[in-house]
Amino acid sequence: MLVGDSHTMPLFGKRCAASLKKASYPLAQWKFRAGEASKDLKTLGRLYDTLAKEGMERSSFLAALGGGVVGDMVGFAAATYMRGIAFVQVPTTLLAQVDSSVGGKTAVNLIAGKNLVGAFYQPKCVLCDVDVLKTLPTRQLRCGLSEVIKYGIILDADFFARLEKQVDSIMACDSKVMAQVVKRCCELKALVTGEDERESGRRAILNFGHTLAHSIEKEYGYGKLTHGEAVAVGQLIACRLSEVLLGFPRNETERVFELFRCVKLPTYVTAQDTAKMIDLLIKTTHHDKKAQGGEPLFVLADRIGECRFGCKVPESLLRTVLKEFVKQGKK
Ligand SMILES: NC(=O)c1ccc[n+]([C@@H]2O[C@H](COP(=O)([O-])OP(=O)(O)OC[C@H]3O[C@@H](n4cnc5c(N)ncnc54)[C@H](O)[C@@H]3O)[C@@H](O)[C@H]2O)c1
Ligand SMILES: [Zn+2]
Repeated sequence: MLVGDSHTMPLFGKRCAASLKKASYPLAQWKFRAGEASKDLKTLGRLYDTLAKEGMERSSFLAALGGGVVGDMVGFAAATYMRGIAFVQVPTTLLAQVDSSVGGKTAVNLIAGKNLVGAFYQPKCVLCDVDVLKTLPTRQLRCGLSEVIKYGIILDADFFARLEKQVDSIMACDSKVMAQVVKRCCELKALVTGEDERESGRRAILNFGHTLAHSIEKEYGYGKLTHGEAVAVGQLIACRLSEVLLGFPRNETERVFELFRCVKLPTYVTAQDTAKMIDLLIKTTHHDKKAQGGEPLFVLADRIGECRFGCKVPESLLRTVLKEFVKQGKK
């Protein structure tokens, strides 16, 4: 069964269905309303019912056509329907191509929080066609680029330098350049998650910039800032903390700033009462689900291309650094 959302099915459903039919797969199709709000138990329940109604068996497989929302939910349905059936990912956002489709995390949201019900479940394959990115709204493209740049900072200095050189082609979604970019990100994510599928250790480096980003998303309200925008600011904060704690070169932080500016990702957030916002962000960070005994642990970088996880950051330093990144202005 081919499953997409109300944007991806009209755009690419016919083409996918035709090629699956050509390969002699009997085909059912289903779509749900696009958006994060659909990644819930109610929509998942409707998906299970449709699978049963369409007569899906243990030998059937699901194809997830869409962004991270489709991939995460269809992946979880595949992990659990009849105790697990095969699925393939056909990611159609840059974020899904470079991040959510690889590594085997699947989940749906609860009212209590995001991704609280899920499973580690690997797709049989991930099929990325970079041409589908041409219809993606620019803001969505940028959201994916924030994660792309992250791979450069944490794992691959050469890749980071290539991004700096090719930024115009990337923003224009040049197919050849994008294919290389997506390929390298998938290689890097597969390398990390292959060594530590269940995040007992090094997989945590993928959370670079995410500790603060999660707090920013929460305090600014999901939907106001995209995940990628919050992650951009979070990564800059992590760079500054790294300067003080690990000697991360200052000129490299400048390069990260410049790259984010080039792709028009934010480099700070604003608040009417900056002191209050800083307090809130620090408080939320202590409640992060990856905090240990109330103390948040950070991923920090030694230089572009090298990083480490599980770093403790003194609250006074975090407060000082946040002063640079929470500026006076309308929230
Ligand atoms: N599993 C993981 O490891 C992992 C990692 C990161 C994020 N996630 C999850 O991914 C989700 C976010 O993913 P996302 O940013 O892809 O969001 P999304 O799936 O909501 O897609 C964003 C929007 O773009 C539309 N869209 C998708 N492809 C398109 C195309 N080619 N052209 C035009 N429009 C298109 C979608 O319909 C949607 O409206 C979150 O739920 C997050 O929790 C999971
Ligand atoms: Zn992320």
